[in-house]
Amino acid sequence: MKTQIERIEQALTGFLPAGDDGIRTVIESMKYSLTAGGKRVRPVLVLEFAKLCGGTEDAAMPFACAIEMIHTYSLIHDDLPCMDDDDMRRGKPTNHKVFGEAAAVLGGDALLTLAFETVLSEKAAELNGYEKCARAGRLLASCAGAEGMIGGQIIDLESEGKSVSADHLRRMDALKTGALIRAACLLGCISAGASDEQMKAAEKYADCIGLAFQIVDDMLDVTSDEATLGKPIGSDAENNKSTYVALLGLDVCRSLVSELTDGAIAALSVFGSGTDILSDLAKALRDRQN
Ligand code: IPE
Ligand code: IPE
Ligand code: MG
Ligand code: MG
Ligand code: MG
Repeated sequence: MKTQIERIEQALTGFLPAGDDGIRTVIESMKYSLTAGGKRVRPVLVLEFAKLCGGTEDAAMPFACAIEMIHTYSLIHDDLPCMDDDDMRRGKPTNHKVFGEAAAVLGGDALLTLAFETVLSEKAAELNGYEKCARAGRLLASCAGAEGMIGGQIIDLESEGKSVSADHLRRMDALKTGALIRAACLLGCISAGASDEQMKAAEKYADCIGLAFQIVDDMLDVTSDEATLGKPIGSDAENNKSTYVALLGLDVCRSLVSELTDGAIAALSVFGSGTDILSDLAKALRDRQN
């Protein structure tokens, strides 16, 4: 039996358009980054919340793929020279290093639009009904947009070289990273037809692991090495990024991440049993090395 990650990767490839020779470059750009690996944290969250709330992995899979497409596009653009200007991603040269900046921008744009095509696809509707697909699409749009991930990215860029408060960093991280993680957990809930109480708990879990996830990302930028991380280290210092690590130091960050992980696990109590996978995932993200 295929592992969950293998099933996600197979489904992702299945949603890529075939295209013809005339548009080959942009399809190759999309495929390059989408199939480059990565931890697939967000699609796993979609599938696990769906199952926890009584849904199925099959029905949730188009939503899981959609969030990974948006995440991958955000990474392609994040690495561009006009943003973080990084050369390695997921252990390979960044998209613009291979395809050039224009095809990287367009490949990212095309992954963003493919995400909505996927959520509204006949396949997604057959499995979930159009009403749930519409809810999923609306949630994705708001979490990925100016009041979500993109908002966080602009705050990140405009905070370079400035001294900012912990509250400012919390807002930035809640948007740039937290918003898509929140969307992932809630997409699983939507596919399963979860109750309001379950959605609230999922949101609490997501907000805790979302912030912890970015703090760990910032810590690894200092403590890891490129071979383990699959992307350059020292990128934040080079760009004068405002991060929790720069403001509070590694030790305070470590205890913050630990508290947030405990908070995430506590939020799962509403669900009663069956939460082991999600509590183990929160711990694995706390302890991750890449
Ligand atoms: C990296 O995300 C960007 C952040 C939001 C911190 P991931 O650490 O999930 O990257 P991949 O998908 O595993 O490459
Ligand atoms: C990126 O944060 C968050 C996104 C929305 C892509 P970072 O800029 O810290 O992510 P990495 O370290 O390049 O993966
Ligand atoms: Mg960035
Ligand atoms: Mg970056
Ligand atoms: Mg980073």
